[in-house]
Amino acid sequence: MSRFSRRSFFKWSGITAAAILTPLSGYAGYQWSRMDITNSGKVQFAQPLAIPPVIDLEPDRDGRATPELDIRPGVSSFVPGSSTPTWGINGTYLGPTLRGKRGTTVAPRITNNLPEITTLHWHGMELPARADGGPHQMIDPGGTWMPEWMIDQPAATLWYHPHPHGTTRQHVYRGLAGLFLVEDDQPTGLPDTYGVDDIPLIVQDKRFSGDGSLDESELDFSIINSLGLLGDTILVNGTWGPVLDIRDELVRFRILNGSNARIYDFAFTDQREFQVIAADSGYLPAPVTVNHVQLSPGERSEIVVKFTPGESVLLRSQPPDLGTMPLYGRVIGGDDQFDVLLIRAASSLRPSRVIPASLPAPPPIPQTGTLPERSFSLGTRSINGDKVDMDRIDFVVPLGTPETWKIKNAQGIPHNFHVHNAMFQVLDIDGHPPPPALAGFKDTVYVPPLQTVRFAVQFGQFADPFTPYMVHCHLLAHEDSGMMLQFVMVEPGTEDQVNRQLPPSSPASGQHHHP
Ligand code: C2O
Ligand code: CU
Ligand code: CU
Repeated sequence: MSRFSRRSFFKWSGITAAAILTPLSGYAGYQWSRMDITNSGKVQFAQPLAIPPVIDLEPDRDGRATPELDIRPGVSSFVPGSSTPTWGINGTYLGPTLRGKRGTTVAPRITNNLPEITTLHWHGMELPARADGGPHQMIDPGGTWMPEWMIDQPAATLWYHPHPHGTTRQHVYRGLAGLFLVEDDQPTGLPDTYGVDDIPLIVQDKRFSGDGSLDESELDFSIINSLGLLGDTILVNGTWGPVLDIRDELVRFRILNGSNARIYDFAFTDQREFQVIAADSGYLPAPVTVNHVQLSPGERSEIVVKFTPGESVLLRSQPPDLGTMPLYGRVIGGDDQFDVLLIRAASSLRPSRVIPASLPAPPPIPQTGTLPERSFSLGTRSINGDKVDMDRIDFVVPLGTPETWKIKNAQGIPHNFHVHNAMFQVLDIDGHPPPPALAGFKDTVYVPPLQTVRFAVQFGQFADPFTPYMVHCHLLAHEDSGMMLQFVMVEPGTEDQVNRQLPPSSPASGQHHHP
C-alpha cells in the first residue's frame, strides 16, 4: 500500500475513533489532532548544543571512585527568555556524563533533594541487584544512597535514570537522566575526544504548556494514545534548536533515545551513509554502513559520520518503521518527522584516522547445544498476563548459563523489552535474521506489533535470592502501568529454594535510604 493511501485511510479511521470516543474520553481527537506531527521548518537552529559535563571515575585513596550526584529541582530556560521548572542531577536538567574504565570500583553518593521518593538505576550495567537502583532501592526525600560495584563489562554507552515504582515516566520526563560511558584499555582508533569528535546526543521529545512548563497531561497511555507521551518539541542534551559546530572530518555520535515513548529513525537530510560502530552494550564486530538508524526508548547507537569542509547538514528523525497494525491501522507516531540537530562543518577540517575494519566487540554468546529457553508475552499492562508485584519473584535465573528468550508482542501496538544486569544478541525477528546494525550486543530491543523477537542473553554473575532485577517494556507509561516482571539470580541448583514471595517489610522489597 502506498504511503498516501495508508495515510488517507488512517485519517479517516482517526476521525471515526474520535467521534465515537468524544463523549467517553478526554483524549478524544488525540490521534486526529496529533497526526503527522512535524517540526520541520518551525525550529530555528541557533543555540549551541549543550554537552553534559564529564565526571571521570578515578579511584581515590581507598581505591573507589565516589562521584557525588545530587538529584534536585531547578528551573531551565529552553527558549531564551522562558523558564521551565525541571529536575536535574548536579544541575537543572539531565546529569553529568559518568566515564569509567573497566575494573574501576564505583561508589556514587546519590542524594535525593526532590520532594518525593526516587531511585537511580544504571541502565545496561552488570552489577549486584542491591546496587541496581531499580524500584527496590528507594531513596527517600533528603536521603542518600551509596551503592558500590566494580565496572566489569565491555566498553559501551550506558545511561542512568530514576526507576521508582509507578512514577518513572514523570521523573525521566522532568529531566532525570545521564550517560555512563564504560571504557576499556583497548585502543580503537575511533574518534574519542568527548565533546569534540565524540558527541553525546540525548534525544527527548516534550510538550510545553503555554506558560513554558512541561505539559504532563499526556504522560499516560489511553485507548486513543496507546504509547504515552509523544511530544512535538525535540530537545537534544536539553537544548532546543541545537547547533553543533565541528572541526573534524569524522565525528562519532553516541545517540540515546531518552524519550518516554517516541521511537525515532535517525537519518541525515541528504540521506548520506554513515557507519554504525556500537549498539547498546558494546561495539559491533565491524562497522556497518547504513543511512538511517532506528531507536526505541532506552536504546543507544554509536555512529561515525563523515563531513566535508564548510557544509551544513541536519540530523533528522524520519517516519520510523514501527511495523503494521492489522487492527488499529496507523501506528501512532509512525508518520512523525523531526529536525533534530543542525551540524555545521568548519571551512577546513582536521583529517581523522580511518575507521578500523574490525572493532573490539564482546565475544559472541556461545550457541553450542541448546540454551535454556524462556518465553515472554507482552500484553496490556502486563507480561505473561501478570502485572508487576513488588513482593513477587516471577522467575529465577541460575548463574553460569546463557539463555534463549523469546519475546512475543501479543498486541497491535509497539512495545520494547529491556533486561537488567544482562546483554543479549538478537537471533531473529519474526523468524528473520536481524539487520547487521541490530546484531550487536543490546539490553533493549524494539518488538514490533504482533511480532516475536528471539535473543541469546547472558547475565552479570551476582547471586542474591532476595533482591530482584527487572525486565520490562521501556515505554515508560507501559512500564509504570505494570508491564514489568522481577527475577532473581541464584547459584545453580538452588532455584527451588527461592522464596517467591518477598515479605512486604523485608529490606529487599523496600530498601529505603533515609535522610
Ligand atoms: Cu532503563 Cu529498568 O530501565
Ligand atoms: Cu535498566
Ligand atoms: Cu510497551
